Amino acid sequence: MFRRSSLIVGLVVSAACGSMPSTSDAGTGTGGGTAAAGGSAGGTAGGTGGGAAAPCSSMMYAKYGMAAFTAVNNSIITKAVAAPTASVGTSFQGLSQQQAATLTTNLGAFLVVAYGGPNTYQGKTMLAAHQGLNITEAQYDYFISNVVVPALSENGVPTADIMNCFAPPVTEKKAGSVKCDTVQSGPRPSGCP
Ligand code: HEM
Repeated sequence: MFRRSSLIVGLVVSAACGSMPSTSDAGTGTGGGTAAAGGSAGGTAGGTGGGAAAPCSSMMYAKYGMAAFTAVNNSIITKAVAAPTASVGTSFQGLSQQQAATLTTNLGAFLVVAYGGPNTYQGKTMLAAHQGLNITEAQYDYFISNVVVPALSENGVPTADIMNCFAPPVTEKKAGSVKCDTVQSGPRPSGCP
C-alpha cells in the first residue's frame, strides 16, 4: 500500500504539466459561466493560456461521473483535515463547521469544472480563497501527493489517469494556474510569476 502510493506520488511529480485556463477570473459575482474553476466555458480545458494542452483532463468528468467526483471530493476534505499540520500547515484546522461545509461545496464544484463538467462554481478565485493562509510550495506539494492523489487512487482512479489527466491542472506553473495562485508564501515556485 505504502509502496504503491509512493509510486503514484513519484509519477505525479514527474507528470508533464498541461494547461488549464486561468483561475484568476473566478468570481462570485455575475452568474453564468465564468471561467471560474478551470473554465469549461470555451469547451476545452487547456484551451487558453499557452502551455501544453492535456486534452484528457477535460474528459475526466464525462468518464467518471458525478458520484465519483463527490466521493473523491469527500475523501480530499477528510484527508486534508486529518493531515499533519507540520506538513500542510494549520489552515484546515481553523475552519468553522460552516466554512468546512462551504469548502466542501466549492471544492466539489471546482473539481467538476476543472475536469470538464458543468460550471456551477460560485466560490472565490484561487488567489482570494487562499489569501492569508500562507501556503508554501512544500505544503501544496504535500497536499497533492498525500491528500489528492490517495483520494483519487482509493476511489479507483487508475494511475495512468491520475498522472496524465488529473495531475496537469493542479501541477502546472504559470500565471493564473491553481498552483501559482494557491502558493502565496515562501519562495515562488519556479515558473510562477
Ligand atoms: C489542488 C490544489 C487546491 C485546490 C484546487 C483548492 C481549491 C480550493 C477551493 C475551491 C476553495 C473554496 C473557495 C471558496 O470557498 O470560495 C478552497 C479553500 C481553501 N483551501 Fe484550497 N485548494 C487547493 C490547495 C490547498 C492547499 C494546499 C491548502 C492548504 C495547505 C488549502 C487550504 C484551503 C483552505 C483552508 C480553504 C478555506 C478557506 C476559507 O474558507 O477561508 N488549499 N481551496
